[in-house]
Amino acid sequence: MVNVEEFIGEAIQRIRDVAGEERVVIALSGGVDSSVCAALAARAIGDALIPIYVDTGLMRKGETGQIQALFADMNLHVVDAGDEFFEALRGATDPEEKRKIIGEKFIRIFEREAKRTGATMLLQGTIRSDRIESEGGIKSHHNVGGMPLDMEFSGVIEPLADLYKDEVREVAGGLGLPAEIQHRMPFPGPGLAVRMLGEVTREKVMIVREANAIVEECLVEEFEPWQCFAALLGRGTGVKDGARLHGWIVAIRAIESQGGMTAEPLLLPYDTLTGMVSRITSEIPGVARVVYDLTPKPPATIEYE
Ligand code: XMP
Repeated sequence: MVNVEEFIGEAIQRIRDVAGEERVVIALSGGVDSSVCAALAARAIGDALIPIYVDTGLMRKGETGQIQALFADMNLHVVDAGDEFFEALRGATDPEEKRKIIGEKFIRIFEREAKRTGATMLLQGTIRSDRIESEGGIKSHHNVGGMPLDMEFSGVIEPLADLYKDEVREVAGGLGLPAEIQHRMPFPGPGLAVRMLGEVTREKVMIVREANAIVEECLVEEFEPWQCFAALLGRGTGVKDGARLHGWIVAIRAIESQGGMTAEPLLLPYDTLTGMVSRITSEIPGVARVVYDLTPKPPATIEYE
């Protein structure tokens, strides 16, 4: 474990030394790593830090507003890029193809915005396990902390490179970041796009976003899972309001894990499960069926794609 106060002091000094008088950009996702990095750099260099938040249109319910509110006192640069992502994803059904399109688009947008700010330095929230994960090779991992950029920066600053996730969370506490950031569940870079099988459409994103919000509401506080979410599997036959419905099938996933390399499903109380089924099918018109995923990792990965 790190000495949090010491780490914060040293990291701030290092960022100041490396940044000098330059402007520094960071791709802020709202996850704990990029948030801690941005908070450290804001203390170190103030307005010379320009956090760029790309709203891919694939974020969770309320996420963009939450991030805007949380980082309101920073020089936050919000890019509303949903249209660009949906356009680029049109017709793509293969999971790896979807991931590549999103990763590529993200990088191009980030570079475009970074150039506009006149920044010459890049701050990244890469942590120790990012290096290990990107060497694993099961899925192409899109992480804003590990992007291969075309753009040339005169320097790259990675203040968290030697920390493990739980250490980053401690530093978040030391910096006074709110609990919702400190204990934020992992959320994949490609966002809700990997929580639906097949093509990404606005309708599917809307449905999975609502279902996911219900799952989080029902599980996060009470059960503190390592991760929980909803995914969209496809369509099946149902009956709603006396009429046949070719409705969406939602899967609920709630797991315990150490670091995401393996996972065990949560054995949730029956009432909790039926409560979620009832809310999802009644609150989201197009959903006709809900299933609970009991598969550990391996053989299933945590995300569906
Ligand atoms: P899988 O699905 O491979 O996920 O079992 C393991 C953990 O990694 C998260 N995940 C990602 N995180 N970029 C990320 O930053 C990604 O592309 C990505 N894909 C999966 C996943 O949510 C789980 O916590």
